[in-house]
Amino acid sequence: MSLLLSSVVVVASLFSGAAAINNGLAITPPMGWNNWNAFGCDVSENLLLTTSTQISSLGLREVGYDYVVLDDCWQDPKGRDKHGKLQPDLAKFPNGLKPISDQLHSQNFKFGMYSSAGEMTCARFEGSLDHEVDDANSFADFGVDMLKYDSCYHMGRVGTPSVSFNRFKTMSDALKATGKNILLNLCNWGEDLVHTWGMSISNSWRITGDIYDSFSRPDDLCACNTLEPGAVNCVAPGTHCSVLFILNKVAPFADRSIPGGWSDLDMLEVGQGGMTDEEYKAHFALWAALKSPLFLGNDLRDMPASALTIINNPAIIALSQDPHGRSVTRVRRDTEGIAKDEWGMGETHVWAGHLQNGDEAVILLNAGGEDIEMSVRLAEIFIPYGPGGSAPHVKYDWAIHDLWAHRMPQETAEALLAAKEVEDRVDILKKANWYNATELPYAKGLAKEDARLFGEKIGIAEAGGVLKADVKSHAARVFRLRRVKKEGDNFNAKSIARKGEERDEL
Ligand SMILES: *[C@@H]1O[C@H](CO)[C@@H](O)[C@H](O)[C@H]1NC(C)=O
Repeated sequence: MSLLLSSVVVVASLFSGAAAINNGLAITPPMGWNNWNAFGCDVSENLLLTTSTQISSLGLREVGYDYVVLDDCWQDPKGRDKHGKLQPDLAKFPNGLKPISDQLHSQNFKFGMYSSAGEMTCARFEGSLDHEVDDANSFADFGVDMLKYDSCYHMGRVGTPSVSFNRFKTMSDALKATGKNILLNLCNWGEDLVHTWGMSISNSWRITGDIYDSFSRPDDLCACNTLEPGAVNCVAPGTHCSVLFILNKVAPFADRSIPGGWSDLDMLEVGQGGMTDEEYKAHFALWAALKSPLFLGNDLRDMPASALTIINNPAIIALSQDPHGRSVTRVRRDTEGIAKDEWGMGETHVWAGHLQNGDEAVILLNAGGEDIEMSVRLAEIFIPYGPGGSAPHVKYDWAIHDLWAHRMPQETAEALLAAKEVEDRVDILKKANWYNATELPYAKGLAKEDARLFGEKIGIAEAGGVLKADVKSHAARVFRLRRVKKEGDNFNAKSIARKGEERDEL
């Protein structure tokens, strides 16, 4: 790997823009809230606007959550109007959708909506298949900034990559033709090798069946659960997919996400009540480090303080929004000798990935049934830069920073949630000196070494040595390794690309 080739790579990715859909959107993974996981079809103007106000006043807009997404069931149950146009259900949206979009925009949010590349949506309202141009124009007229585009009731137009590609491309082209720049969030659950073509026409593509609020429980409705982890061509991805299942599914192609195009691991379950605090912390941190879009899925108006202190941790979100824009990959998965959990699952993972400033994100996941000490050699952490300990990184000491160390204190979060007036909430956030990405975007905060993005230094992994940490059952430790500079060293992290990263950029 020569220096020269690396600089060519950088130039290509900056100026040719050849990668991905190239609409300038989702340069870092999109963040926001979507009503589906908590509310399903129970949608309304009131739900969207009370939620957006809550996102603002809790300081969540300022840590990056800026899309408010209306999922399925917004449509008039009577179907299209006499001109063939989609209509909102006026019982749920008495003022239509444009005033909602205007209100969200005035609060500095972006508005997302939903349809399906089928004759019906998943909840059996009018779908957009063969109505793409009309419907894209409707979305543009509603003032929509993002479309989540599902794949239910596709009338059999599925089964090969090109059939699926063409079905979704029709909407991608129709959105482009509106002249409005609308983010496309494609959702065909990983079918027809979407990880190989999604980035050509969309800003993100789902790679598994729907998530449910369980850490590791297998479920027959997530049909692909029965296959080997990582099996790609699985029929009927389904629903009820656990966090662990989704991680195993994405692992073989975690390297496919690039700025502007991201593998979507589905919306977050944090705060919904089906997982423990440690499980939710692991779920959130892995979604961030794997560069999934981060869409909150809980009721933000009625949320435990512990959930708020997970989703508002800027040191974790900084992994998601790091300008390097590449996912962590799994460098190790162990199943032998790991105690089984209550569902008969038992495995540990080590995930690692490069960050813009040369730091390395490392996550130790214990999905087994007992608390253990996990250890991993630096030579393994840095395998993507050269196997067998050949990566130059291995010759250095690395400071270990724990990214959960400065989680917002429970009392602060409780006070924030209890405060009735917006001014009181602003005061609490100011006193806590909480991160404000509107003021200081993550790229700048990272470049300025803002302490709030770096957790707490808890030790050193010595050159050629091992990183060790206690990891509870169903928990993850989330670290940022920071290279300890040596006197007069000329180590240039940027010149040492991870193998594979240059392939996708060329
Ligand atoms: C965050 O920064 C923006 C831009 O400076 C400012 O308008 C906003 O009031 C800040 N929010 C908080 C909670 O301090």
